[in-house]
Amino acid sequence: MLCFVLDAIAEEVRACRLCPLWRGRRNAVPGEGSPRAELMFIGEGPGEEEDLQGRPFVGRSGRLLTEALEKAGIRREDVFITNVVKCRPPENREPTPEEREICTNKYLFRQIEAVNPRLIVLLGSVAVQTLLGVSSVTAVRGKAFEKMGRRFFCTYHPAAALYNPGNRETFFNDIKKARELLENLRTFDKQKTLFEV
Ligand code: URA
Ligand code: SF4
Repeated sequence: MLCFVLDAIAEEVRACRLCPLWRGRRNAVPGEGSPRAELMFIGEGPGEEEDLQGRPFVGRSGRLLTEALEKAGIRREDVFITNVVKCRPPENREPTPEEREICTNKYLFRQIEAVNPRLIVLLGSVAVQTLLGVSSVTAVRGKAFEKMGRRFFCTYHPAAALYNPGNRETFFNDIKKARELLENLRTFDKQKTLFEV
């Protein structure tokens, strides 16, 4: 059932022409992962490799993300990974506010509802701007927030961690922290249900 909803959204994404980004794409990148994921990761938008393969986070940034997940004891196939916009912006520029609004209203928010993750990890400034209305990731990295009945944890975009060893260590530690937070939330949610009659 859930799979069906996500597959239907993915099909819509592949045919979408709602914003100008469709013109530059080779493949749209709806996102992938477990339809019952407790953790959801949201990046910015597809890069060159993602556009070629139609899959999220499969280039250099993606390999770093996958490594960080492994180091934190998280299996990539157990989480759901997607982006704010589903088509690659020309020359990897940031998606405009209009592009973000159109694409998230039409797809990302429905994906969040369908997966219903316990925790959403926002990767980098475009994701924190779009989902939390915060201007930059630096002020919120390593922190958790609750908004619209959803829980968010913020960290760097893996691209920011690629060439900076300091950022890299921070990023790896943040992903571990997200996993710990998820475990605490699981316990918290279970206890909460004990009080519900
Ligand atoms: N950068 C992103 O923001 N998303 C991807 O899927 C790949 C690189
Ligand atoms: Fe449609 Fe999103 Fe692609 Fe724009 S970026 S064309 S809204 S799928």
